Formats: sequence, C-alpha cells, structure tokens
Amino acid sequence: MFVVVYLCCLLTILDPASHLLRLSRTILRLLGQNEFLANGKINELAGKSLCLEEAMTQSVCTNLLFLLCGYNEAQLNKTMLPVVLGHTPAGASTRQIIHFGQLYNSKKFRNFDHGWISNKLIYGTFKPPEYNLSAITAPIYLHYGDNDWLSTPDDVDKLLHEIKSVVGKFRVPLDKFNHLDFVFAIDAYKLLYSRMMKIMSGFM
Ligand SMILES: *[C@@H]1O[C@H](CO)[C@@H](O)[C@H](O)[C@H]1NC(C)=O
Ligand SMILES: *[C@@H]1O[C@H](CO)[C@@H](O)[C@H](O)[C@H]1NC(C)=O
Repeated sequence: MFVVVYLCCLLTILDPASHLLRLSRTILRLLGQNEFLANGKINELAGKSLCLEEAMTQSVCTNLLFLLCGYNEAQLNKTMLPVVLGHTPAGASTRQIIHFGQLYNSKKFRNFDHGWISNKLIYGTFKPPEYNLSAITAPIYLHYGDNDWLSTPDDVDKLLHEIKSVVGKFRVPLDKFNHLDFVFAIDAYKLLYSRMMKIMSGFM
C-alpha cells in the first residue's frame, strides 16, 4: 500500500518560483530554523476564532486553504474548519523542505544534496545517489486525485513506471478531489477508504 507523502500544502506557492529554491537555504532559514511552518500559535488562533462557522472571516480561511491545496468546496465540511486549520499545515523539518526543492529542481528522486565535497565524503560520489525504485518488491496500490496539485496524475504515472511491483492504480472518482481531501473530504470513505480497506483486508 502506498500513501503519497503528505507534504505541507504551502509548497504550492513555492512552486512557480522554484528557481528561488536555489537560495532555499537562506529563505527557509528565515521561515523557520529547524521546523518549517510549525503548527504553532498562528494556526491555533486561526482555528479558534477566524474560522468558526459563525465568524464572518470564515471565507478567508476556506479561500486560503483552497489557494494552497486545490479548490473543492463541496467536500469541505465547514464545521470542521477549526479542526482542519488547527492541524494544517503540520510543519516539517526545514531540511526536508530544502530536499523537496532539490528534487523539484533536479527532477530526480535522490538523496539529500550536501554540496559536492560533503557528498563525496558522505556518499562516496560527488552527486547524491538516486533512490532505486525498481528495488521495491512489496505490492503497491496507487490512489490519486485529479485535482491534487502536489501529487499530480503525471507524477503518479511516472512513479507507476519506475516501481516494478505496482499492482493497481486507482483514480478517486471525483474530478475535484484534492490533496487535503485524502484526509478531510466529507465523502472520503465512500470514494477512497472503502476501496483501500477492501484491498488491505485481502492481505490479512
Ligand atoms: C460535518 O462535521 C460535523 C462535526 O464533526 C458533523 O456533525 C457533520 O455530520 C458533518 N457534515 C457532513 C455533511 O459530513
Ligand atoms: C536497482 O535495483 C534492482 C533490483 O534490485 C537491481 O537489479 C539494479 O541493479 C539496481 N540499480 C542500481 C542503479 O543500483
């Protein structure tokens, strides 16, 4: 079973400016020395007052979420917004985000790039070694959403061809299904989890 890594949604805004990621170390250190977009006070506040169902500011919250994660109002339970925003973005290590920028720029799925001298010391090669996806042997089922801007159908296809042990690829049958819908969609059970559970129970 393969779960697409849940990257922090805010990466979408970094995408168009990916060349900036060459300066990523500097920029990201500004965003958080060791933890990127930690789920801290700002989110808690947003979750508690700005996004409550009766608050006039609630549309600000929904729009912010859509801007970052793809638009799918129908599957968003607005009563749950304070809970969603109390946990999203969940934060990640700053180095993880730098690594993501490196992968995006190089179009390669490989180890962290420490710079060529350190790479030679750590890996024995000047360039970071690539992860060998064809070495994966466990049966893999890919589930993807058409409107997931962080894990696009094209990227899922690429993965499908690189992993030899993919058994199935399933599109969630809803055009607007987005990155956050995998966790929060009102109909997630009907559209996705029921099938996942059925597949998984076949391995028990
Ligand atoms: C939305 O969430 C609330 C609180 O968890 C729940 O009571 C309600 O049934 C949900 N609505 C839908 C349409 O799922
Ligand atoms: C990747 O793994 C496969 C299967 O274990 C192996 O045959 C192949 O040589 C490996 N490729 C590299 C570049 O290490």
